[in-house]
Amino acid sequence: MFRLGWFLGNGFGMQPWYGNWTGRAVTEWTQPSMYVDLTTSLERAGFDLLFIEDTSMVEDTYGSSMETTLKYGLMAPKNDPIPLVPLLAQATEHIGIVATMSTIQYPPYLAARSMVTLDHLTKGRVGINVVTSVSHRVAQNFGLDKHFEHAERYAMADEWMEVVSQLWDSWEPDALVHDTETPRYADHTKVHPIDFEGKYFKCRGPLNTIPGPQRRPVVAQAGNSHPGRDLAARHADTMLALAKTPEQMKALRQDMDRRLIEHGRKPQDLKILFMATPYLGDTDAEAQERFNRFDKAKHDPDNIEKRLWYLSYVSGGVVDYRKYDLDGPVPQEIGNGETTTAKAWLEGSENITLRDLATGPANYGMEFVGSPDTMAAQMGEVMAEAGGDGFLMYPDVTRRSIMEVCDGLAPALRKRGLIRDGFAHKTFRENLMDF
Ligand SMILES: Cc1cc2nc3c(=O)[nH]c(=O)nc-3n(C[C@H](O)[C@H](O)[C@H](O)COP(=O)(O)O)c2cc1C
Repeated sequence: MFRLGWFLGNGFGMQPWYGNWTGRAVTEWTQPSMYVDLTTSLERAGFDLLFIEDTSMVEDTYGSSMETTLKYGLMAPKNDPIPLVPLLAQATEHIGIVATMSTIQYPPYLAARSMVTLDHLTKGRVGINVVTSVSHRVAQNFGLDKHFEHAERYAMADEWMEVVSQLWDSWEPDALVHDTETPRYADHTKVHPIDFEGKYFKCRGPLNTIPGPQRRPVVAQAGNSHPGRDLAARHADTMLALAKTPEQMKALRQDMDRRLIEHGRKPQDLKILFMATPYLGDTDAEAQERFNRFDKAKHDPDNIEKRLWYLSYVSGGVVDYRKYDLDGPVPQEIGNGETTTAKAWLEGSENITLRDLATGPANYGMEFVGSPDTMAAQMGEVMAEAGGDGFLMYPDVTRRSIMEVCDGLAPALRKRGLIRDGFAHKTFRENLMDF
């Protein structure tokens, strides 16, 4: 059995809003209804979690302009995901909801308090995706001239997680007395300042709210570089990973097992979820035909522009792919953003053209093509071979794709006993760690 998550890759932002099957997304993306529909469908389907991306900027690396960003609505406009979380929780009972917070956007105290507040409001179903932010533009919205170098970002994130963790532990488990007679609400000797003083953060504590049902909300981490892996090994309960083959999945799992042990934890303390994009159809032939159409559409000028924009974003605002001849060589600079993602895209690109890269295979993890039953079998085989903990599904978000995955693929997975058929526990953490 494995876990299933859904990666809401453009956060509380614009989902597909033009073309077939997009409904009224062009104006309704700011409203909760699509996300509520998504989350209730995921819960019905037996998903473990919804994962909400976030970034706080309007990108202008590509062509040194916001034109492409705002023409297509790429990563902007986007609402803050945190206020959405209680609305999703209110409509559901079991599913975990992970929201993204960046270590350069939130002071640790604010993050720790906000997450515990959400833990109370969701009755223990919230998680935090700890990111270091990808682009200079985010940094410039939060008082910095430019973003930190990659290694320093992660050193800062590690310290940030340390402060947040200490704050979550600043109330001892038995600090609450709840004696209405004396009266005595809490035992002050069991609530402790943390007096943290590090290189980047200073925080006195204690947290000014009581621990939530999970005490420590579930922590997720998505960077796959070496410092990203160490951050996950020290602090995370789940990690998002990009791999294209079972061999790559296995290698990452083994590497993470080693790092977890090095940091005094057990391999089973970290659940690794691999990104997967499904292309479903009623039959295998229909799914293949849909995939082929999608593949062919990569050559449309709009799609080439969007992919080059994306590569510029992934470089962390360092490489403007618009500057380069489409029929010339691919610039080989990795940049300062999502370095593992950038490396995956550039691997083997020395002898192809930029057009080939812009129209070639995607690098968002695995792709599965087939009818629900065929895909369920393929996913089962891959997971059995790789020994991962689950998949993070990454389809476009339309009500059609939600239905295909939740009412088509998920029942086929369940029929094979590959995903859960209910939730044994109350909190997200307990369910995530259940097997
Ligand atoms: C699947 C996935 C999801 C991510 N989600 C976010 C996000 O929501 N917000 C963000 O600023 N960065 C996000 N990132 C970026 C990472 O958290 C990390 O900061 C960045 O990828 C640097 O990665 P590296 O360790 O591979 O260099 C995501 C990355 C991946 C691979």
